Amino acid sequence: MNRSLFIFVGVIFTVVFSLSGLVLVPDWQFSEVGPFKTEDGTLYPQPLTGPPEAGRHVYMDLGCIYCHTQQVRPEGFGADIERGWGRRRTVMRDYMYDPINLTGTMRTGPDLANIGARQPSKTWQYLHLYNPVITSPGSIMPPHPFLFTVGAEAVAPPDAVALPAEWQTPTAKYIIPNSRGRFLVDYLMSLDKSVNLPEAE
Ligand code: HEC
Repeated sequence: MNRSLFIFVGVIFTVVFSLSGLVLVPDWQFSEVGPFKTEDGTLYPQPLTGPPEAGRHVYMDLGCIYCHTQQVRPEGFGADIERGWGRRRTVMRDYMYDPINLTGTMRTGPDLANIGARQPSKTWQYLHLYNPVITSPGSIMPPHPFLFTVGAEAVAPPDAVALPAEWQTPTAKYIIPNSRGRFLVDYLMSLDKSVNLPEAE
């Protein structure tokens, strides 16, 4: 029983040590970080608003995070930069406005941290989401047809995206993204880590 003081101090130490390591120090590190002023005077990053912000929720709803990461590892820690997933590694500042962290852990598909710069064609993104094998033959990514309506009128509406000739059928000549589809692609377009940050040289 004369060890109770020893155990008590041990418990207190464990709690204080893990609290500071997991909560206090990260909080202090984050409070140090602010946006970076680029050469033309704009600030990076910018908090998401409007359609891209709505699209972030669609991304979370549809579970894209289960197959895609949003973190580019530095050279020497993997082949992310060689694969062209980013021109630089991602750093804390890239995520400073993210209310919920979507860095992810699984890479069934490629990293999307910089997809807005890597694949800036909205048409490509719509066709790929509608049915990934249209743009990426052999893809195992699940299709997301519920983000679109399909049409075959002679005069297509202005926001229609034509299906490639070999994918057209008499009842499906084009796809029209619904609001969730548009928001999701606006979000993907916002994932752009082209700004060089001093801490990521
Ligand atoms: C079951 C796993 C899986 C899920 C869920 C998934 N993907 Fe994918 N994704 C992949 C795979 C595998 C690829 C690579 C083949 C391809 O391009 O289709 C890919 C490729 C991509 C690409 C092209 C990346 C590049 O470098 O060209 C984008 C963009 C993308 N996914 C977005 C999404 C979005 C948005 C969601 C959620 C709506 C999603 N994915 C859900 C597996 C998945």
